[in-house]
Amino acid sequence: MKERPIVPEREMERQREFMKLVEAMDVRPHKYHIVSMGCQMNERDSESIAGMLEQMGMTQAPSREEADLILYNTCCVRENAENKALGNVIWLKELKKVKPDLMICVGGCMTQEKGMAAMMKKRYPFIDLVYGTHNMYKLPEYIWRVLTERRPVIEVMDIDGEVVEGLPEKRKSQFMGFVNIMYGCDNFCTYCIVPHVRGRERSRTPEAILEECVRLQDQGVQEIMLLGQNVNSYRGGGAEFAELLRRVDRLGIPRIRFMTSHPKDLSDELIAAFGELEHLMPQLHLPVQAGSDEVLRRMNRRYTHEHYLSLVEKLRKTCPDIGLTSDIIVGFPGETLEQFEETMDLVRQVRFDAAYTFIFSPRQGTRAAELPDDTPESVKSERIQRLIELQQAITFETLSAQVGKREQVLVEAASTRDASQIGGKTPRGHMVNFPGDPSLIGKFVDVEITSAGRNTLRGRIIGG
Ligand code: SAH
Ligand code: SF4
Ligand code: F3S
Repeated sequence: MKERPIVPEREMERQREFMKLVEAMDVRPHKYHIVSMGCQMNERDSESIAGMLEQMGMTQAPSREEADLILYNTCCVRENAENKALGNVIWLKELKKVKPDLMICVGGCMTQEKGMAAMMKKRYPFIDLVYGTHNMYKLPEYIWRVLTERRPVIEVMDIDGEVVEGLPEKRKSQFMGFVNIMYGCDNFCTYCIVPHVRGRERSRTPEAILEECVRLQDQGVQEIMLLGQNVNSYRGGGAEFAELLRRVDRLGIPRIRFMTSHPKDLSDELIAAFGELEHLMPQLHLPVQAGSDEVLRRMNRRYTHEHYLSLVEKLRKTCPDIGLTSDIIVGFPGETLEQFEETMDLVRQVRFDAAYTFIFSPRQGTRAAELPDDTPESVKSERIQRLIELQQAITFETLSAQVGKREQVLVEAASTRDASQIGGKTPRGHMVNFPGDPSLIGKFVDVEITSAGRNTLRGRIIGG
């Protein structure tokens, strides 16, 4: 990974000036609503966007209808993500008819797709601002331009991206925090659009990351999630990921998790960290994608199923209680029934705590989108159904094996269905619901697991 330039401070200063200019305007949006789609990286970006909007004098609207600025932070990893984003945008056209001053902004991964910005400009002229993943930090300038030029601003940069530091932020949670450690991806798995829309890998410096962690810790954050498309290739200021983790661990934040890891470069040092670091939770999301070596080769994943199984073995040897989760793609072009059965076998062998399963979705500009694909959709649906059923049975067995255990849970929220119930995660990442007072949100409680549901556990508070 190359060292990437950091956006210079004078450019950030310029953007701060634009924030002040917008704030001082009489006619400008006052209430914003952000719709964040896709992965945690987009969620973290949305926190920076909210921070910028607040510095421009706006506050979060209680509902979408009450907002006078609506921003879509889009995802395009699969076709349905893209359709959802476009569907939402079209709905806004109607809203704008009754609310002509509404400012509509669309950014994120979808706008960064080739030809997308031009298409949006032509077909959705009611959108006020379209920007990409590489120039999100210029939002203040673009919003100022929309307000002063009074015509749509379409700005998507076709660059590899830089590292941006020092953006304002408005965090969603008081006690759980996302921390980006790197941006972009260089892996070019043949099905995946992320490297095309997020640009080349670039790492933040360990100093910037640690500073952010300390800031969160000072604010009372109990759990942090380090984020990157492939954290295993982190390389900031010469430090590798395992080294960075050790440094974060020493800060003493009670819980650390990270995602996502690529199996091809999960180092022994990182595996060892699961046995050594006090605050690193016993949980790892390690997407396998497929069980057949031939399919893995055509996906350009650069590991074999054998190698994957050996990683699982090492991880469980180091940390017997580790909760492993995965992503799996069904119906990659040319996948035979036999190759699919190899995925089923792998799932039976590994016994993931949970697996996120997807039917292959061709993405324009990726290599896999050009491959001949003669498996009918109905066959792909049958296959994914079988895989989901298998995984559901394994998940239920895994959860059932937790019954009777005593676990420390960080309470995240009250149940939306039953106000007397609260819930949070065990160290291994299982969600537990139990009777309790919402004043416990953000605190640790000891819980005895009393029963298992399909995806979550139930329990009761013990002691205290
Ligand atoms: N960086 C992460 C994954 C990011 S995308 C990693 O490498 O593991 C999240 C998941 O979406 C992927 O793991 C993959 O399973 C799925 N995915 C990505 N592109 C896809 C496509 N074109 N069709 C179906 N699923 C896809
Ligand atoms: Fe996509 Fe592969 Fe990069 Fe993950 S590692 S973001 S699946 S290209
Ligand atoms: Fe989607 Fe972009 Fe994340 S495509 S999955 S939001 S990196």
